[in-house]
Amino acid sequence: MNRVAPGIWQGDAQAAASLLPPGTIDLIYLDPPFGTGRLRQGPAGAYGDQWRGALSQVGWLTECCRRLWPALRQGGTLWLHLDAHSVHHMRLALDQLWADGTCRNEVVWCYNGGGVPKRDFPRKHDLLLRYVKGENWTFHMPRRPYKANTQAIGRHSTRARQVTIDLERGTPETDWWTDIPTVTGWSGERLGYPTQKPLALLSRLIAATSNRGDLVADLFMGSGTTLVAAASLGRRYFGVDSSPAACDLAAARLALWQGAAWDWSPP
Ligand SMILES: C[S@@+](CC[C@H](N)C(=O)[O-])C[C@H]1O[C@@H](n2cnc3c(N)ncnc32)[C@H](O)[C@@H]1O
Repeated sequence: MNRVAPGIWQGDAQAAASLLPPGTIDLIYLDPPFGTGRLRQGPAGAYGDQWRGALSQVGWLTECCRRLWPALRQGGTLWLHLDAHSVHHMRLALDQLWADGTCRNEVVWCYNGGGVPKRDFPRKHDLLLRYVKGENWTFHMPRRPYKANTQAIGRHSTRARQVTIDLERGTPETDWWTDIPTVTGWSGERLGYPTQKPLALLSRLIAATSNRGDLVADLFMGSGTTLVAAASLGRRYFGVDSSPAACDLAAARLALWQGAAWDWSPP
């Protein structure tokens, strides 16, 4: 493990997971390579998605999660971001692994853009498994504005079909998200790191499943999106990536937020 900047470490996720002190992290977000067997590259870095198919990935990733779980505090949340390559295998593996862990949601993140196959429906969604530890988990319901026809009712609060709606607070967000675009070539936040995730996605899940001052960790941090979202929401952050280019990019992104770093040292 090499310290690149406060809260930012270059190294292997499994190795880092074994070293973290028990019960310290409030929210863990994992966005590992999805098991595509492809080299992912962009102008700001590259990484090998070395697993060829779900089965070769599942053993490694399950072991990583097994080592990491003790570091999550009681009531904490672990998000695992995958797609159809391996999410179903991982769901089965993790449900068996964690006696005190429950999968509370499978959030479907829907998007557009990118390639279109000729003989299949275009695959345009990722799946995010939300596991909580114990019974007393953190959750703040995200809300979005009601549709125009609901707002046209013109009352602040009404009751229709036994459902109370509060026009000012908005309607609760569901478990399928269609309002967050991917980071494309023309996105203002694009840094050129392959498979960079949008800040809006990380901000939503961090705001919903952690509190101000909590510690947020990402062991496949890439360009550091999770860490930036955490710092800007008043959380502390900690990140690991095996790629030196990713760590340098994340460190540059986090330079303004070093006060929020969790400056841990391995034992
Ligand atoms: C899907 S990308 C993460 C992208 C990131 N969420 C972002 O917004 O930029 C996966 C990352 O996992 C890293 N990675 C691959 N194998 C790893 C390992 N064994 N330990 C730690 N990081 C690893 C890659 O270098 C890559 O940056």
